[in-house]
Amino acid sequence: MKNVPHRLIGFSTKDLKQRSSDLLIIGSGIAGLTAAIKSHQEYKVTLLTKGKLKETATWYAQGGVATAMSEKDSPELHYQDTMKAGAGLCDPKAVRVLVNEARDSIDDLISLGVDFDRALSGKIELAREGGHSLSRILHTGDSTGSEIQSTLVSKVKSCSDIQIKENTFVLDFLVYKNRCVGAIVLEPEEKNPIVYFAKAVILATGGCGQLYKVTTSPLLATGDGIAMAYRAGAEVCDVEFMQFHPTGLYDKERPRFLITEALRGEGAYLRDCAGNRFMVGVHPLAELAPRDIVVREIVKAMKRCGEDHVYLDTTHIPAEKLEKRFPMIYERCKESGFNLSKDMVPVSPVAHYMMGGVKTDTFGRTSLPGLYASGETACTGIHGANRLASNSLLEGLVFSGRIYKILKDDIGKISKEEISDADLTCSFFGNKKDIDVDKHKELLREIMTTFVGVVRSKEGLKEALIKISDLQDEVFKIQFDEVGGFELQNMLTVAKLMAQAALIREESRGAHFRSDFSETNDSKWKKHIILKRGLQKPKFSKFI
Ligand code: FAD
Ligand code: SIN
Repeated sequence: MKNVPHRLIGFSTKDLKQRSSDLLIIGSGIAGLTAAIKSHQEYKVTLLTKGKLKETATWYAQGGVATAMSEKDSPELHYQDTMKAGAGLCDPKAVRVLVNEARDSIDDLISLGVDFDRALSGKIELAREGGHSLSRILHTGDSTGSEIQSTLVSKVKSCSDIQIKENTFVLDFLVYKNRCVGAIVLEPEEKNPIVYFAKAVILATGGCGQLYKVTTSPLLATGDGIAMAYRAGAEVCDVEFMQFHPTGLYDKERPRFLITEALRGEGAYLRDCAGNRFMVGVHPLAELAPRDIVVREIVKAMKRCGEDHVYLDTTHIPAEKLEKRFPMIYERCKESGFNLSKDMVPVSPVAHYMMGGVKTDTFGRTSLPGLYASGETACTGIHGANRLASNSLLEGLVFSGRIYKILKDDIGKISKEEISDADLTCSFFGNKKDIDVDKHKELLREIMTTFVGVVRSKEGLKEALIKISDLQDEVFKIQFDEVGGFELQNMLTVAKLMAQAALIREESRGAHFRSDFSETNDSKWKKHIILKRGLQKPKFSKFI
């Protein structure tokens, strides 16, 4: 990508205030908090996060965490469902790790105090979601994310040896002798950026749903981690695969309120404007088909009807059950004027989850030594072209736990003295200029939604690339001094990577649908697209 700046600001580390730790963790969602909890007893850990500790996508998770727990289930079945949903691009080795280590990760969560719903017998209750061949979703009502997030936050706060900094924005990585040795950071109470040196850095910055007009992702999901890693020279993979969730509540809220797939797991129907259950006959699992398939059928139904939503029908499910099992959704729909037991609720597809990200191996190692990634910002290969529902929280748990296992070997490769000797200078030739950052973000969302949304084409993607480049030409020349401007630069970087990869992939697979190449082409495209700063051409690989 020719016009991405090397860093977002110019700096010289020797002129700035410096702090240091063994391990720098960026992000306080399930991935960042799990990494901190696993490693603080052995390493001096600093955890930085852009907002308050609880401001994460993790907090909003509704459906739950997938894990094979019932007698009828097994890691093998979970493996098969994950591979099937991923449309031929899941990395088998990574998926094996995920399903085999799921149970231990769940036991860890329970021992920390996460209170999953249980039947009177004491057994954990399991729910069903799209693409799963049986019930395997552990949940706490419809607020599983906030239960997990609160528990992990309490634990981290109780560890006095974890240094936590909220409202702290990480701008860029520090790279010394081809190793990530820390980050350059904006702290709320400091006028100048601060240098954080570390022997290893774990990136856990979540997704990039804010690139779209309509999304479930919280405002902080601006793709910072992917942009930072790309600028620092790490490989980025599978970014053409953006998952749209079939059922966002159709109203004006931003982010859109999600209506969990678990409702369809309890029997809710999708109906078009004429009242037809349009998923029946399209897929053997009907409303519980994998998300990419349901979303495309919703788009077709909306087109047929000339409407921008379809309907979720829960009126045949007993009211007591709806109120007890989905109390938050029940209340929220009521606030919008819909009674789940009487009314059909208008819903539409919403940008929800980035399958791709910073490429890692099964121990979270990125291609840049010293830099690890976990959670939604990472691409471990477990989601392939389409994530199986409720595998994301699990991914954060399992893979953040694995980073800790190999840190010992890696962290020893560089000494504290060597790092603090690093005298790094980076120039940036931007000018200060006042622009309406929110308006520019909105413009970008319009472009991404129109041309890099559920249905893409060569023409549209080329148009998107021209428009994004024009915005980049304007915005990358500016030296911002506030978070919104830096987020805009990150969003533009990730948007371009996504549009480029989507243009390169001349087929349809999972969440990536091309109207001009509507078939899956295994002989040519059963491979990953890897992008790296400075590479003239993308790399292709059969495995992550
Ligand atoms: P997050 O939880 O998003 O945390 C990212 C962290 O990084 C935040 O603390 C943020 O402040 C910080 N950060 C970002 N940029 C910077 C920066 N520049 N500097 C410093 N800090 C930064 N998945 C499931 O498996 N099951 C579900 O039921 C489910 N339901 C969902 C419902 C909703 C509404 C949404 C939006 C997602 C849902 N998902 C679900 C997906 C899942 O919640 C997320 O993928 C997962 O929680 C991501 O965790 P994470 O730790 O990677 O990132
Ligand atoms: C949902 O509850 O429908 C979301 C689950 C997920 O994104 O995995």
